[in-house]
Parts: sequence; C-alpha cells; structure tokens
Amino acid sequence: MARKSVRKRIEELQDPIEEHPGYEETESRVGLWGHPLHAMSVAFPVALTFCTFGADALYWLSGEPFWAKAALWAAGTAFLFGLAAAATGTAEILLVPGIRIRAAAWTHFVIAVLLLALLGANWGYRLYGWETAVLPYGLLLSGFNTVVVMVTGWHGGALVFHYRLGTSKGS
Ligand code: HEM
Repeated sequence: MARKSVRKRIEELQDPIEEHPGYEETESRVGLWGHPLHAMSVAFPVALTFCTFGADALYWLSGEPFWAKAALWAAGTAFLFGLAAAATGTAEILLVPGIRIRAAAWTHFVIAVLLLALLGANWGYRLYGWETAVLPYGLLLSGFNTVVVMVTGWHGGALVFHYRLGTSKGS
C-alpha cells in the first residue's frame, strides 16, 4: 500500500527543467559531418591512462628502464589528449542548451577536471626523474588514475545512453 503511494507521488513529480525552451535541444554541435568530436577524442586519454599503468606495472615486475620511459610518454600524452578531449566536451556543454541545463553534464565536467589534474600530476612528477618516479608513487597514481578514468568514461557514456545527450535524436 505504502509502496503504491510512493510510486504515485513519483509519477506526479515534474522535472524542474522540463519547461526550459532548450530542453529537447541536445544534439551535438561540435563534430565532423554530424559525428561528435568529443566521442572521437575521449578514446585517446582513456587508452593512454591504461597504458601508463601497464608500463608502470611492467617496470615494477621487470626493472627494465624502457618501461619507465614508456610510462613517461604515456602519462604525458594521456594528459595532452585529455586536454584536447576536454576542449571538445567544454565546447559541447557551452554551445548546446539542452546539455548546458542538465546537472548531470556538469557532474561529468567536475569529474573530468579532477581526472585532468591527476593526469597532469602524474606526468609532471615524472619530469623530475622518470625512473625513480615509478616506485611507489608513480605506480600508485597511475593505478588511481585508471579508476578515475573508468568513472569518467562510464559517466560520459551515461550522458549519451541514459540522457541521450550529444546524439542526433530523431534524424
Ligand atoms: C572537462 C571537460 C569535459 C566536458 C565538459 C565533457 C562533456 C561531455 C558531454 C556533454 C558528453 C555527452 C556527449 C556529447 O555531447 O558529446 C560527454 C560524453 C563523454 N565523455 Fe566527456 N567531457 C569532458 C571531458 C571528458 C574526459 C577528459 C573524458 C575521458 C577521458 C570524457 C569521457 C567521455 C565519454 C567516454 C563520453 C561518452 C561518449 C560517447 O559514448 O559517445 N569526457 N562528455
């Protein structure tokens, strides 16, 4: 009985932003021939963050300096490609009214900025000694960064698949 009334009350609730004129305007505006640039660019920082962790782990296991150097390059390129992905995402959030008014899009922004700070720290720390930086803090940081990049990517996917942001609805 109590369950029924809760459901009824939920049905009666209205999304406070539903009346906004741009509510339905969620199509991507930053793309090439309608293909969103943000979706294309996020693959690089995601993959390079995992590569940094992999190279650190291989250095830990083998002691081979090659892997520490590989981790330095992977960490640097993860950060730089992360900035590029953030530029396309930021353009999208500012230009598209239906994306700009949704709190979930700003949550993604906050998580992504945290990720960028961590990626930058992971690279910057290694510039002061790429081999000595790996154990233990480089490895710990890149392990943590893989978790944060997974959360960021999952949340970005939720924006597309749950809220249908950045898609070409109806066309
Ligand atoms: C800091 C600025 C960022 C903003 C404002 C932002 C904003 C957005 C928005 C609005 C979407 C919905 C789709 C679209 O409109 O293109 C999205 C999707 C997504 N974002 Fe971000 N993003 C940012 C950074 C990042 C970063 C650094 C990553 C990961 C490294 C990331 C991962 C993703 C993923 C995986 C998707 C789903 C793409 C798809 O499946 O099509 N975002 N983001």
